[in-house]
Amino acid sequence: MNDLFDKIYRDRGPLSRWASQAEGYFIFPKLEGEISNRMKFQGKEVITWSINDYLGLANHPEVRKVDAEAATKYGSAYPMGARMMSGHTELHEKLQNELAEFVNKEAAYLLNFGYQGMVSTIDALVAKDDIIVYDVDAHACIIDGVRLHMGKRFTYKHNDVESLEKNLERATKLAEQTGGGILVISEGVFGMRGEQGRLKEIVALKEKFNFRLFVDDAHGFGTLGETGAGAGEEQGIQDQIDVYFATFAKSMASTGAFIAGDKEVINYLKYNLRSQMFAKSLQMQLVEGALKRLDMIRTMPELKQNLWKIVDALQSGLRDRGFDLGTTQSCVTPVYLKGSIPEAMALVKDLRENFGIFCSIVVYPVIPKGLILLRMIPTATHTLEDVEITLNAFSAIRERLQNGTYKRLAAKVMEAMKEE
Ligand SMILES: Cc1ncc(COP(=O)(O)O)c(C=O)c1O
Repeated sequence: MNDLFDKIYRDRGPLSRWASQAEGYFIFPKLEGEISNRMKFQGKEVITWSINDYLGLANHPEVRKVDAEAATKYGSAYPMGARMMSGHTELHEKLQNELAEFVNKEAAYLLNFGYQGMVSTIDALVAKDDIIVYDVDAHACIIDGVRLHMGKRFTYKHNDVESLEKNLERATKLAEQTGGGILVISEGVFGMRGEQGRLKEIVALKEKFNFRLFVDDAHGFGTLGETGAGAGEEQGIQDQIDVYFATFAKSMASTGAFIAGDKEVINYLKYNLRSQMFAKSLQMQLVEGALKRLDMIRTMPELKQNLWKIVDALQSGLRDRGFDLGTTQSCVTPVYLKGSIPEAMALVKDLRENFGIFCSIVVYPVIPKGLILLRMIPTATHTLEDVEITLNAFSAIRERLQNGTYKRLAAKVMEAMKEE
């Protein structure tokens, strides 16, 4: 028999093996200062392309004022207890009603965190006889929710409607035996690569198959659709999403989340969501803050217009310079380059130190080996000058990647690792 911790000492996992080189810089970096287009990293100003503050609400003076007033009025304790027991208020209900109306659903229910809420909603929606069919590239919270399911589940190829159809055929045969139903789960916008879930084609399959659709629209809410109601609105099929989810952690620049759908379904979830039944209610400061943010999203279309002005300038500028942005159809702006992990580290260091650009770097195992993904999140606070500086920097680092500069620097990193 082994000691439980043997595996921890033996294998630190795919990411933490880089910890000695990467921690504090590439992983767990500390960005300092007010949340905005320019922040400080290790004492130097950088253009920040890695924060999901799409609409620039995080540091908007009106938002800061409401957050501060709510904190003074309520502290961070109120209300105490789970919603069901002692943590329910008029304002929680008001926020739910306004969110439901905004995303065009009959009812909504608040979640303390998007991640746990997604896990719990999946858990509550399915019973043992039901079958889940979900996108293979789904966010970790969907995968964890599916893990709780005691019955069958099938994945379909990423955003591939033909593959979904094949899996719906399998699921339908199985459901006919078990007597259960089928839940399909997609994201509204896939947060790594930025493509929208093919929701319109997915709901068209409802003519052929009997299933319910659950959409995680973390990145679509506030950024897509005419009113900002998300990917369903953008694709004209919001009414056919059976359960809609969005987090407050992105466009709303806060903490918390919600689900929305038909009254009866939301009422069922309200009584069966373990993440809410057995956890303290969303604190009032966050509820008041969310009401303010929602009001601004509704009444200030210029926030979304500013965002898209930057998205369009950045994405078209990069494409004009021949960069590969993959299949993005949203604000998420991925730039794919070819190189190893040590080369990626040297490149990102150069971007930060010499060009003052801070963006997230994604490597294997999140994306295939040999690829480097520089992931950028434009926001309404960025300027066209930020875009211009960034485009020039990207041209320069591509040149250095191609002429082997980073390979040489990477060799030094590898040498240093061997000596450890
Ligand atoms: C697609 C998706 N779903 C869910 C979540 C989790 O939301 P939260 O940060 O509110 O826990 C995230 C990340 O924030 C996300 O990107």
